[in-house]
Amino acid sequence: MIVGALRELVPGERRVAIVPATAALLAKAGHRVLVERGAGASAGFPDSAYGSAEVLDRGAVLAAAELLAMVRLPCDPRSPEGAIAESAASARVLVGMGEPLSGSPRIAALAATGATTFALELLPRITRAQSMDVLSSQATVAGYKAVVLAASLLDRMFPMLMTAAGTLAATRVLVLGAGVAGLQALATARRLGATTTGYDIRAAAAEQVRSVGARFLDLGLEAGGEGGGGYARAMDESFYMEQRRRLAAACAEHEVVIATAAVPGRPAPRLVSADAVRGMPPGGVVIDLAAERGGNCELTRTRGDGAAGEIVEVEGRRVLGPIDLASTVPHHASLMYARNLAAFLQLLAKAGAPGLVDGAPDPAADEILRDTLLARDGAVASARARERLPAG
Ligand code: NAI
Repeated sequence: MIVGALRELVPGERRVAIVPATAALLAKAGHRVLVERGAGASAGFPDSAYGSAEVLDRGAVLAAAELLAMVRLPCDPRSPEGAIAESAASARVLVGMGEPLSGSPRIAALAATGATTFALELLPRITRAQSMDVLSSQATVAGYKAVVLAASLLDRMFPMLMTAAGTLAATRVLVLGAGVAGLQALATARRLGATTTGYDIRAAAAEQVRSVGARFLDLGLEAGGEGGGGYARAMDESFYMEQRRRLAAACAEHEVVIATAAVPGRPAPRLVSADAVRGMPPGGVVIDLAAERGGNCELTRTRGDGAAGEIVEVEGRRVLGPIDLASTVPHHASLMYARNLAAFLQLLAKAGAPGLVDGAPDPAADEILRDTLLARDGAVASARARERLPAG
């Protein structure tokens, strides 16, 4: 099949969906690979590195590609006007990330163009899909970068140091939510010399927290926090209230709090109150990775406010809710994302590449394709995405 990759249009997006190594991989598998001029530049992949691909103008890629490999699908709420029309006018199949559970009317608009669209965020968390798991690969980058940001904002160093000028105590880092990003944050903070503690609502996370050398914080809340597919369950407000109260005591003993808690398709649980921030040691820093979904901390400026990424300072403590962290480490984030995407394309090609142009492969044939199929035949195909769309 003819696979194309374009320069991303969402402002600030620096990643690219096909890197030179995956262009070679796809070419070796018999696909023709087209890359827009300059598409990889902001991720550190110059046009000259794409030896296995044809580097063309945007219009030429759009005209010839049967499938567009994208970081952000045009239904992403931040895609510019016109992105849907542009990609749907050409490619028959789109693959990328598009915030399928956001309930954005753009999902229906993209579906209405008739483009067959696969949203990689909908991948099932099964062993066979691990090589395609973009949520994991990008969360790994975000968890790492969160620690780097915390370290650079903090008024102290992470490691315990015994020097001729005295002994410095190690910084204490608390990570809330021990999924992929949280575990990577714990591992990174420990490598920098911090004393690390992790907390999660899922009991199964305790062992994983310990496996990266951190202490597991037991709040003594009998949660039953496991939902389906390894994810957490949304709890009721009285549970969250009690959780916030108990976490405030833990925050008081940590100079850094990195919050990563999420429940798929839901606003982020509120775990850190404004009072908990005020109660942190002076100079304390909160990095809230849930800012894209409303924030884990009451003080975080979120994407909803239109002020995500702004630092909030209260009584000498600082709260930062960065968004798109993976895109701020575009080289490695692209390497991993592109590798995930190439694995997905290989599955797609096996399932029915010859049929891609005149209608997609039969998605019912494979659990991974079935789950990720966002739109087909002019309609939103994913029940999970559909149920979040506004009525009508
Ligand atoms: P996520 O981004 O949806 O959530 C992050 C973390 O927040 C989760 O660990 C969740 O339990 C936690 N959380 C939610 N509500 C909370 C609350 N009120 N208090 C404290 N913590 C709360 O999760 P992510 O990182 O996508 O991973 C979810 C699970 O999927 C993990 O168990 C992970 O190991 C598993 N997984 C499995 C894969 C596979 O088998 N292929 C691949 C990747 C992840």
